[in-house]
Amino acid sequence: MATKKQGGLADVIAGQTAISTVGKQGKGLSYRGYSIDDLAREAAFEETAFLLIYGKLPNSTELSQYKKKLHGLRKLPAGLQLILEQLPANAHPMDVLRTGVSALGALEPETDEHNHYLIADRLLASSASMLLYWNHFHASGIRLDTETDNDSIAGHFLQLLHGHPPDPLHEKGLDASLILYAEHEFNASTFAARVTASTLSDVYSAVTTGIGTLRGNLHGGANEAAMALIDAFTSPSEAEIGILQMLQHKKLIMGFGHRVYSVRDPRSDIIKIWSKKLSEEKNDSRLYLISERIEQIMMQEKKLFPNLDFYSASAYRLMGIPTSLFTPIFVISRISGWVAHVIEQRANNRIIRPNAEYVGPEPSPWLSIDQRS
Ligand code: COA
Repeated sequence: MATKKQGGLADVIAGQTAISTVGKQGKGLSYRGYSIDDLAREAAFEETAFLLIYGKLPNSTELSQYKKKLHGLRKLPAGLQLILEQLPANAHPMDVLRTGVSALGALEPETDEHNHYLIADRLLASSASMLLYWNHFHASGIRLDTETDNDSIAGHFLQLLHGHPPDPLHEKGLDASLILYAEHEFNASTFAARVTASTLSDVYSAVTTGIGTLRGNLHGGANEAAMALIDAFTSPSEAEIGILQMLQHKKLIMGFGHRVYSVRDPRSDIIKIWSKKLSEEKNDSRLYLISERIEQIMMQEKKLFPNLDFYSASAYRLMGIPTSLFTPIFVISRISGWVAHVIEQRANNRIIRPNAEYVGPEPSPWLSIDQRS
């Protein structure tokens, strides 16, 4: 009988949460009891962020006030603009966001008045501004006005990126994707953010911890890595040959598999429909068909299903978003989940400090420097 792989805290219940539940019976995801399918279909990202951070769905007055509030928090302080200008043009946008969030923590530090709720809203509202201020400054020397008239974070991002009001389908698709990326229980970056919060550190430190942890290809970086994979093929048949070869060489196929889900990732089904819709709108199904073939081969050869990152890649490309901004979009959304977890951790805190099994050398007598080999 095959033995189960050890390590990585797999199957360990590391704490309690009331924010989301993931993967019951191998599938399913809900945020505070509301299914991801209903949220992605019916809600706006701002509504979802409010649900996660403030613990209830906003009524219509609360939602319009919340959107107005976020709209008013998009401007960057001059000190932060200066810092973004100093970062190199070839920096990875994840480095830019990590630095931007950290700098904002020094410019607008957490206090009893400027508390975790206000900071969550400020970061949600201004992270697209940070990213695209830096992007435009280095691409064309423009000091971007980061206030737009678009009232959604998705629309604001696309408008800042492209310099014109977004196509409504793109705005809706990006909004749905932000909802899907917002929260995912004790994933690596959220757990890391909770560890930081558990030491009584500030909320900006917890969010920068989250950004650093999200960046890797096994976590949030997978959407950029999946795009690179799909881009390597010009047709479905080429993709089939390429993936079979990669599997033969025991390579990881980015955007597939999941620690918690065993049957399917419910978020993938939703973003796949968006990827198809966007392909049809553009009358360009090449990326979608290559992606579908990769999905078929992965199921046939490895019984592995796509996770959220896989079809997000083609969906974002079809919205005209550069690949290096894919993982930063994940950050913009996940700030809501990270801060919700920081708030939850703080409400019933005990420092997170597990034990390790020692596998090092037995105690040995001290060696003075001339006794050492
Ligand atoms: N491509 C190829 N093989 C994969 C794979 C993938 N994407 N994901 C898992 N496998 C294989 C593993 O190599 C392992 O095989 P082995 O038992 O022969 O070593 C087996 O499936 C079980 O996977 P395991 O390593 O136990 O998974 P994990 O729970 O430790 O890791 C992920 C989960 C998500 C990190 C892993 O599936 C992965 O690396 N996926 C690609 C990166 C990605 O898309 N990340 C985003 C996650 S939302």
